[in-house]
Amino acid sequence: MGLLLKILIPLLGAALAFHFYSAPKNFSPEMLRGKRVIVTGASSGIGEQMAYHLARMEAHLLLTARTEAKLQKVVERCLELGAASAHYISGSMEDTTFPYRVVEEAENTWGGLDMLILNHVSYFDFNFFNGNVEQVRILMQINFLSYVAMATSALPMLKESEGNIVVVSSMAGKTGVPFIAPYAATKFALDGFFSSLRQEFVMDKVNVSITLCVLGYINTENAVQAISHVIRDTPAPKEECALEIIKSGVLRQRELYYPSGLLSSMVLLRSIAPEFLDSTVRSSYNVENLRRR
Ligand SMILES: NC(=O)c1ccc[n+]([C@@H]2O[C@H](COP(=O)([O-])OP(=O)(O)OC[C@H]3O[C@@H](n4cnc5c(N)ncnc54)[C@H](OP(=O)(O)O)[C@@H]3O)[C@@H](O)[C@H]2O)c1
Ligand SMILES: *[C@@H]1O[C@H](CO)[C@@H](O)[C@H](O)[C@H]1NC(C)=O
Repeated sequence: MGLLLKILIPLLGAALAFHFYSAPKNFSPEMLRGKRVIVTGASSGIGEQMAYHLARMEAHLLLTARTEAKLQKVVERCLELGAASAHYISGSMEDTTFPYRVVEEAENTWGGLDMLILNHVSYFDFNFFNGNVEQVRILMQINFLSYVAMATSALPMLKESEGNIVVVSSMAGKTGVPFIAPYAATKFALDGFFSSLRQEFVMDKVNVSITLCVLGYINTENAVQAISHVIRDTPAPKEECALEIIKSGVLRQRELYYPSGLLSSMVLLRSIAPEFLDSTVRSSYNVENLRRR
């Protein structure tokens, strides 16, 4: 991403990150022991890694995604790792009733909920926007509306437990990133909805925390497969990313930036030099490789 972003800006970013986002409380794994946690998109990638961390911390887990065979394996592994309990419910978030069914499942099994981790995303075509509005509508349902539905229906349980809502987003939900317009729209929508909701919670004395996790490029199989031929950056590790998300949620942070140095500096640049940020982002893509596919 150019010498400036590689060396100078991350340093500045790290200092800023420390200043603005350093958590006042310390994390300890015991904070999750016996907690009842839903993780969506838990069959692969960051969601799967979050499930393993939570299992080691002895949480109760309800995992969801579409692929039952993968969920079965993840649940087995979670039990081996020490989860207090682990089960799954499979289905697609494209189905408008499914988000409610997942929350009902938690209510029926546990009678309560401590943490809701919203993480799933639909796969999409990584390329110039092709004008397919229907595809945007479907992505809005899967990546955005289902998050709203789950948070809404889980709220009574989360109020009772003074729990946490964790929303996994992306740098593409904070600034313009090419080739993912429909996805970016859903991530910006999450920021708008959940930041507004956070304000209302404070005004209404609802003690449920909302953490927005802004992620950069992470080395999950699907992400690497989709963009490694086009992007010049090296991805950050999914295991560490997953742990940082859990920490930020239980510590009730408003936002997490991971990897923090680079991303905090991008957010800073967005407000003081947006054109420069745009061109830096563009320069990290190898467009020729995209066209050849
Ligand atoms: N990896 C990155 O570089 C990166 C960067 C920024 C932000 N993020 C964010 O991090 C989160 C996790 O990303 P990831 O890279 O770990 O993704 P991933 O490996 O592709 O996992 C996506 C998960 O969502 C599930 N899913 C897909 N379509 C679904 C549907 N219609 N209904 C229900 N579940 C569905 C998938 O399982 P099934 O296929 O079995 O349904 C899978 O468990 C996402 O919110 C993503 O936007 C990732
Ligand atoms: C909100 O809930 C957390 C976790 O239970 C608790 O530590 C904190 O004191 C609560 N805050 C208020 C204002 O009640």
